Amino acid sequence: MGKKLKYSLGGLVVLFLAIQLIPVNRDNPTTDASLEIKAPVEVMDIIKTSCYDCHSNKTEWPFYSYIAPLSWLVAGDVEHGREELNFSEWYKMSAEKISRKKEKLVEEVMEGKMPLPIYLYTHSNAELDEMQKQVLRGWVNQSKINKKNEGEVELD
Ligand code: HEC
Repeated sequence: MGKKLKYSLGGLVVLFLAIQLIPVNRDNPTTDASLEIKAPVEVMDIIKTSCYDCHSNKTEWPFYSYIAPLSWLVAGDVEHGREELNFSEWYKMSAEKISRKKEKLVEEVMEGKMPLPIYLYTHSNAELDEMQKQVLRGWVNQSKINKKNEGEVELD
């Protein structure tokens, strides 16, 4: 091996070790359990398997979330995911906002935008089949019907 190559490989190793020292936020903040979304069990099963890692405070951090630079990618997705939609803090939202987020949820799922495709490389069980998409759609439609019929505020 040439001297130059040896030096640059050494440089890469040092760089790799150095970036491991940059702090990454992998917090799972505790939140009041009463703020957690309540939905029929078949809906909960789907979102817990396919969405909770990025859209709740109960993220299961995979081993590669401890290795930079992958850790930055994972932590970034979780941070932005929670900002947009957090099932652990669902009832912090107004009833109106909940309705809007549910509409958006169905839209994203139907278009295949969520769960984020990159996530499926390592979580193939999170991929939604047609039936699971219909369960989510049915859930959102049902709450719209309930709201119309009863003139009531949606609960979930
Ligand atoms: C790997 C992380 C990840 C997973 C898993 C994931 N999401 Fe997301 N989601 C994000 C990120 C990041 C954003 C914000 C940026 C964007 O829209 O791409 C987002 C945005 C959204 C939004 C947009 C919110 C808004 O108001 O604009 C919805 C709705 C959503 N996700 C629903 C879901 C649902 C439903 C699932 C499960 C079926 C899911 N996501 C799974 C990371 C994820």
